[in-house]
Order: sequence, then structure tokens, then C-alpha cells
Amino acid sequence: ENKARLPVWTGHSVEKTLPIRDQKSHKGTYGTGLLIAGSRDMPGAALLSGLGAMRSGIGKLEIGTESEVIPSVVPVLPEATYIRNGLERVADGTLELHRYRAAAIGPGIVPNRIAEHAIEQLIDCDFPVVLDAGALTERPYNERPAPIILTPHPGEFSRITGVSTTDLEKRRGYYVSRFAKELGVTIVLKGHQTVIAFPDGETWVNATGNASLAKGGTGDTLTGMILGMLCCHEDWKHAVLNAVFLHGACADHWAATRSTQTLLAHELTNFLPEVWKKYE
Ligand code: APR
Ligand code: MG
Repeated sequence: ENKARLPVWTGHSVEKTLPIRDQKSHKGTYGTGLLIAGSRDMPGAALLSGLGAMRSGIGKLEIGTESEVIPSVVPVLPEATYIRNGLERVADGTLELHRYRAAAIGPGIVPNRIAEHAIEQLIDCDFPVVLDAGALTERPYNERPAPIILTPHPGEFSRITGVSTTDLEKRRGYYVSRFAKELGVTIVLKGHQTVIAFPDGETWVNATGNASLAKGGTGDTLTGMILGMLCCHEDWKHAVLNAVFLHGACADHWAATRSTQTLLAHELTNFLPEVWKKYE
């Protein structure tokens, strides 16, 4: 199955690399994450990615989304704070960005000129940035001090690289590590046996997850989880790998006692507390 014989990021790897929450820590220790997600027709994306982030060790979360989206998210995620029309605020430079530990943008975002401006502003900053869904377009990336993490599914990978999904399917490990090196970014190619490739050539395959994840919204949850883990891990590579592993492990926990036909994306993070606990 693992045709490229890539090394597998295992439960043992996770046990060795998950951070401890220091007894004397406070929310500032883990920093504030910025999540730009959700729009009028895709409000749930803000909730799903917000839940993923807030369940993943973050100190504080600020969600930038359209005004109309906020009332639907707040009842389920009262812990976050909100930036009304956050995408426009990032794009026009009126939001102070140096306060953030990390940012994620894309779930439920429509790719347009404003979104492109917002992405440019974020990748001009010196914290880690996760780009997903609507934030995944073909573009070059300049050298920067902190990582850029792209989380495409095969269709999105094809869109940003020009490689057809048929070719990609034959040589996933090869194409992912090649484009991670060429673009100078980290790429998480999602799907059955997610491949994670870093710009220095290091490449891993994830062994967790199952077809219960083949349903709308589960990728948004992962994006939030990566954001949260970036805020609580010292090593950003471990943050990415552990987020992918635990996201899949939550689905495996579901599938142990429930039909894989039935998982809802917003339920995934309900399992994270006990699944995470097994590895720390
Ligand atoms: N086995 C294991 N994991 C799987 C499987 C499978 N068979 N199928 C899907 N997954 C996992 C992927 O690895 C990924 O983590 O489920 C998640 C699906 O993520 P996306 O493809 O991004 O799906 P979704 O959350 O619906 O995306 C929301 O953003 O990407 C756009 O077009 C997408 O509009 C949609 C939105
Ligand atoms: Mg997606």
C-alpha cells in the first residue's frame, strides 16, 4: 500500500513529541492564533476549524469571518473571539498581525482578489501560516523565517501544481516531496494515507484515519487542529505531523464502535480529549 516506502509517523513518534502543558503556564504561554475562515454560504467552516484549533492546545483563538457568520458560531464556540469581516481587515492592513503566534486561512473562503491580498499580508509576516481550501491557488512563495503549510486534497494539489490527479495518484510521495522542495513549503497531501512533505525533503506518511473521514468538513477540522498544535508545540514539524495523526486517530476511535458511514465532521473533536490522552 505504502508504495513509495515512506517512513510512517507512528503512535510512538507522537508519544515522543507531544508537548506537556506546563503547570505554571497561562494562556499567553501558548499564544493567540488567527483563523480566517467561513463566509455567508459556508459558515460551518469557521465552526469546524475553530473547534479543531480550540481543542488542540491553543492559548487564545481569534476567528476572522463575515459578520453574519458570527451568531451561528458563538453558541458552539463561546471560547473564541471574533473579528468581523476579518478577511477584509487582513487584506487592507487594518488588523495588527504581529500579535499572533500562527495563522490559518482558507476553510469556507471564496478565492478572490481580497482573499489573495489577505494571503499576501499573512505570508509577509514571520509566524507559521496554514493555507487550505479557498486559500490554495497557484502562486510562488518567497523565503521567510517561518513555515508555510499547504493542506490540499488531490484536486487542490492538482490545481496548485498542474499535476493531473491521475499522475499524482501513481506517485504521491514523489510529487508531494518534489513540490514541497520546489515551492519551499510544507505540503500535507490529504486522503487515504496522507503524505506530509517538508521543504528540506523530509517526508512522512500518516497511518491513521479511515473512510469515515470521506465526508464534507473533516478537512476544515484538520486545518484548525494544525493551527492549534502550532501554538502549543515547540517544533512546528511535530505540530503538523501530530495534528494529522490525531485527526485520523479520532476517526479510528469512532470506527472502533460505530459505522464509518455515519461520522459528522463536527463530532471528530469530541474524541480528541481521550484520543490525545492515550499518547501523552
Ligand atoms: N481515509 C483516510 N482519510 C480520509 C479519507 C480516507 N478514505 N478520505 C478523506 N480523508 C481525510 C483527508 O485526509 C482529510 O483530512 O478527510 C479529510 C478531508 O479533507 P478535505 O478533502 O479538505 O474535505 P472538506 O473538509 O470537505 O473540505 C471542505 O474545502 O477542500 C475544500 O473542496 C473542499 O469545499 C470543500 C471544503
Ligand atoms: Mg478541504
